[in-house]
Amino acid sequence: MLQATLEDCNPFVEIFNDLDYHIPVVSTYSGPKRPGRAKPKRSGLFITFEGIEGSGKTSQCHHLATTLREHGYWVIETREPGGTPWAEQIRTLLLSPQNQLPSPEPLTPETETCLILASRSHHVTHLVTPALARGAIVLCDRFSDSTLAYQGYGRGLDLTRLRQMNRWVTHGLTPHLTFLFDLPVRQGLARRRTAAQQNRLDREPLAFHQRVRRGFRALAMHHRRRIVSIDARSTFEAIAQQIFHTVSPLLEGLTQHPPSFESPDR
Ligand SMILES: Nc1ncnc2c1ncn2[C@@H]1O[C@H](COP(=O)(O)OP(=O)(O)OP(=O)(O)O)[C@@H](O)[C@H]1O
Ligand SMILES: [Mg+2]
Repeated sequence: MLQATLEDCNPFVEIFNDLDYHIPVVSTYSGPKRPGRAKPKRSGLFITFEGIEGSGKTSQCHHLATTLREHGYWVIETREPGGTPWAEQIRTLLLSPQNQLPSPEPLTPETETCLILASRSHHVTHLVTPALARGAIVLCDRFSDSTLAYQGYGRGLDLTRLRQMNRWVTHGLTPHLTFLFDLPVRQGLARRRTAAQQNRLDREPLAFHQRVRRGFRALAMHHRRRIVSIDARSTFEAIAQQIFHTVSPLLEGLTQHPPSFESPDR
C-alpha cells in the first residue's frame, strides 16, 4: 500500500511548520540577505551514512542523533529515498517487493533512477536545505553516493550522467562528511535476512551487491577527505565511538537548541 504517514516524517513537519520557510533556489545555505536580519554565524552540518544492505547505517545514524541530542544539539534525522511525505511515497514504490508492485513488469534502471532523483529533489528542497540554513545537524541515511553505487556501479548506468543528475536535483549540495559502512556482502545480507521483511533491493543477486560494495569503495578512494570508511565488522560500540570521535571537531559553533517556531502574528 502506498502510504507515508506524517509521523514517519516528523523532521519534515518541524521544518515545514516553520513560518520562515521558503523554497531555496540557490546552492548556498546561508539564505537570502534581508535588511535588519543578521546572517547566521554558520550553516548547519550535513552528515550522510552510506553502505550496502545491512551494514549498520540506520542503527548508527540513530545512535549518533540520540548522542548529539543528549549533548543539546539540534538534530534532524532523515533518510533517502524518503524524508518528506511525497518522497516517502516514492520510497514505498521503490522498495516494495516485485509481487507487491502495481503491475508485474520490472522497473528499468532508468525508471528506478528517476524515481530516486525525484525523491531527492523534494527532500533536499523541502527539508535538508531549509534545515541546514537554520543551523541544524542533518543526519541522512543514504544520499547521492548510493545512486552512484547502486544505479551506477550496480546497474551499469553512466556515472558521469548520474553525477550531473545528482548535481541537478541537489543544486550542488554535498555532505560535509560521509560515513561508509564497509562489510562483506554476505555478512550484510545475513544481517538483513533476520529482518522481518526484505525489500526489492535485498532480493537482487549476490553479484549485484558485490558491484555496489566495490562502487562504494571506489567512491571512498576518490573522495578521501569527505568519505570516512568504517569497518562495519567491528562491534556496534566501537563504531559508535569512531563516529563520535570523527564528528566532535565539527560541532563547534552549531545550534545548541532548535530555533523556536513563532508565528509572526503573535
Ligand atoms: N556492528 C554491528 N555488528 C553486528 N550487528 C549489527 C551491527 N550494527 C548493526 N547490526 C545489526 O544488523 C542489522 C542491520 O542493521 P541496520 O538496519 O542498522 O543496517 P542498514 O545498513 O541500515 O541496513 P539497510 O541497508 O537494509 O537499511 C540490525 O539487526 C542491527 O541490529
Ligand atoms: Mg537502514
